[in-house]
Amino acid sequence: MRKKIIAGNWKMNKTPKEAAELIETLKGGINTNMVDVVLCVPYIDIIPAAEALKGTNISLGAQNVYFEESGAYTGEVSPSMLKECGVEYVIAGHSERREYFGETDEIVNKKLKKIIEHGMTPILCCGETLSQRELGVTIEWIRMQIKGALNGIAADDVKNIVIAYEPIWAIGTGKTATSDQAQEVCGQIRQAVRELYGREASQSVRIQYGGSVNASNAAEIFAKEDIDGGLVGGASLKEEFVKIVNY
Ligand code: PGA
Repeated sequence: MRKKIIAGNWKMNKTPKEAAELIETLKGGINTNMVDVVLCVPYIDIIPAAEALKGTNISLGAQNVYFEESGAYTGEVSPSMLKECGVEYVIAGHSERREYFGETDEIVNKKLKKIIEHGMTPILCCGETLSQRELGVTIEWIRMQIKGALNGIAADDVKNIVIAYEPIWAIGTGKTATSDQAQEVCGQIRQAVRELYGREASQSVRIQYGGSVNASNAAEIFAKEDIDGGLVGGASLKEEFVKIVNY
């Protein structure tokens, strides 16, 4: 039985002070008995968030990382910096990073390897655009993203990662994929992992759905066979996140 995992992706929201306040509001209500809960906060909020999360079972996540250990990479943050601050999960390859910051599957692959090497868990994002969906190439596209991002990673490591399926047309648009559409792609992702890494890895890997998840659609989506939770953007910045976690 895979444990569900629900992660909040705060994106570029909340100052350090606001981050600590939001965590104070959320943490009392969140029940971590049945699900793993992760908050992926902006870099600068990581230290106050770690402090505010002390004594809870809520895990700390980052939204990005660089794939080098140290050196002349102005503006970047290394895996060991995150690790030292208590980060357990790192989002890699979010569609916004691919679109606005030129992240390719090759870069995502390098990041994944570093995240794993430092004992953290990647949340690998994939997803199609609306025109790809309309063209009928969703599955091929996603398989390619998964194959590229996981290239050279051992099956033993793949089984512990989290994959988030996020159709780009559903992110921040209020337009959620139907639970059947989400299940179809998540099932195909599991199938792709099975072909590449074998049955055991495909049965253990956790696959989230993301894209306009809210308190009213979470339960239906998370009930699907191959969907092991969600990556929640907008609704993770509000008390609604408590309802989503306790769905
Ligand atoms: P959304 O974002 O829930 O606001 O659609 C999801 C995400 O981009 O991770």
